[in-house]
Amino acid sequence: MNAPATTPAPTPVTSTGKIMLVGLGPGSQEHLTGRARAAIAEADTIIGYVTYIRLVQDLIEGKEVIKKSMTEELDRAIEALERAQAGKKVALVSSGDAGVYGMAGPTFEVLFQAGWTPDSGIEVEIVPGASAINTCAALVGAPLTHDFCAISLSDLLTPWPTIARRLDAVAYADFVVALYNPKSGRRTQQIVEAQRLFLRHRAPDTPVAIVKSGFRPRQNIVLTTLEKMAEEDIGMLSTVLIGNSNTFIRHGLMVTPRGYANKYEVEGGERSTRDGEQAGVSLSSGLNGWVATIQASDRSPAELAAEYRLPQDYIEAVLHIELPAEEPEAPVEN
Ligand SMILES: C[S@@+](CC[C@H](N)C(=O)[O-])C[C@H]1O[C@@H](n2cnc3c(N)ncnc32)[C@H](O)[C@@H]1O
Repeated sequence: MNAPATTPAPTPVTSTGKIMLVGLGPGSQEHLTGRARAAIAEADTIIGYVTYIRLVQDLIEGKEVIKKSMTEELDRAIEALERAQAGKKVALVSSGDAGVYGMAGPTFEVLFQAGWTPDSGIEVEIVPGASAINTCAALVGAPLTHDFCAISLSDLLTPWPTIARRLDAVAYADFVVALYNPKSGRRTQQIVEAQRLFLRHRAPDTPVAIVKSGFRPRQNIVLTTLEKMAEEDIGMLSTVLIGNSNTFIRHGLMVTPRGYANKYEVEGGERSTRDGEQAGVSLSSGLNGWVATIQASDRSPAELAAEYRLPQDYIEAVLHIELPAEEPEAPVEN
């Protein structure tokens, strides 16, 4: 591995350089945004991991190209700053979105260390791209239509107990989860441990989608279950989507319900509101309704805490609150 470069001296205010953190999306031309394309065209220098530079090969003719390996993120950021200090426009390219397990964080860390501020003469633009969580979800149906989160299984920079604690917490809390960096040639057990932690809280038949090389020539999609997922072909370019307790698979599509069935019944094409529910206000088990229910209950805080799987001190606090009445609100646009 190369020795890391040293952080450049504080940025001179007169510099007119620019650093663009460009998310390339999943790796197909159709999913590269107009602004990402324009940013690459505008740049004098393109810096990035070899595979990502290959993705935009046709856009970079005649430009200075600095190819780096995966382990040289900080060096890439330092090199970008040096070029920008010399007045160049630099595009740092990442797959997906540069702010999701990408170059945006390390770049700001290097910039701040060098004394950069937003008005110190070097402009920084972040060009968003579709992250793997979105593109992989789009390939398998609608798995993210309810609360979701992303966890990286890479322990190259994060201690395993931190990763395990997060896996355990989100499995318990019933999030849909996207696992980034699930497995590599060297890191093969992390996905097995993730499965072990999830199985403590979720049913073995919980739907799982594994998308490998989404929107790239070797795209491969597998729909499976939590108990079988670790046996599947998973690699460096896979994202694993684990459903929540309501997620289902139908006609080869993985879908997480939005929650409409909690409020409405549909029969013979007709929609009606369930007993006790009203359109435009929270569910009867929403905040106001639930607080009223537990305040009227004769059960102890300990029993309520066990029933709702919430901390007892939170239940105790809520038993004493007074909530303002809820006004009906306009439907949310989506
Ligand atoms: C270092 S992270 C980079 C994430 C990227 N910045 C993003 O927003 O998608 C690399 C991980 O992203 C996921 N990934 C990136 N491109 C993918 C693709 N085309 N198909 C499936 N997963 C992908 C994989 O989990 C891979 O291990």
